[in-house]
Amino acid sequence: MAAWQRVIGLFRRRLNKTDRQLAESYLDEAGLFLFNQMSYADQKHAVTVARYLLSEKVDTSGANMSLLIQGALLHDVGKVKGEISWWNRIRVGLIRRYLPRLRDKRAKRGEKGLGHALYVDLHHPDRGAYMAQSLGVDPSVVFLIRHHHDDAKEPATIELALLQSADAKN
Ligand SMILES: [Fe+2]
Ligand SMILES: [Fe+2]
Repeated sequence: MAAWQRVIGLFRRRLNKTDRQLAESYLDEAGLFLFNQMSYADQKHAVTVARYLLSEKVDTSGANMSLLIQGALLHDVGKVKGEISWWNRIRVGLIRRYLPRLRDKRAKRGEKGLGHALYVDLHHPDRGAYMAQSLGVDPSVVFLIRHHHDDAKEPATIELALLQSADAKN
């Protein structure tokens, strides 16, 4: 998704019907609960990653597609709706990309504004995995959520490698 589309997405509210149907066809009740508590921008990003993985652009042979698409739809559930203002969301995106060390330094739990936004951004894989695990989501999907930003040279599973590369492109 282009940067400008992401910015416009920050002001929209609800997924369209076909995006919604995609989420509903892969997620069970617990998964949908987690998916629904994300903001529109994060839901749209998750669906875009899932669609990309389902497209012909990606060679997914050997991957467990049900697991992979659930992981795509849920990988960012640690970002809870309403926690970060649209303004801080844009700043966090820029800091993550261009000043990653500043993110580590300024991230602070419970602090208002940018510090907390950076904290959420830094810890959303662990948070999301914890939330998913608590609701009984498949452990293999929880694994994808927890490790989707890991900096491993050789990702542990084919699904993780595919998710990481799709996430980076969308
Ligand atoms: Fe993420
Ligand atoms: Fe993501």
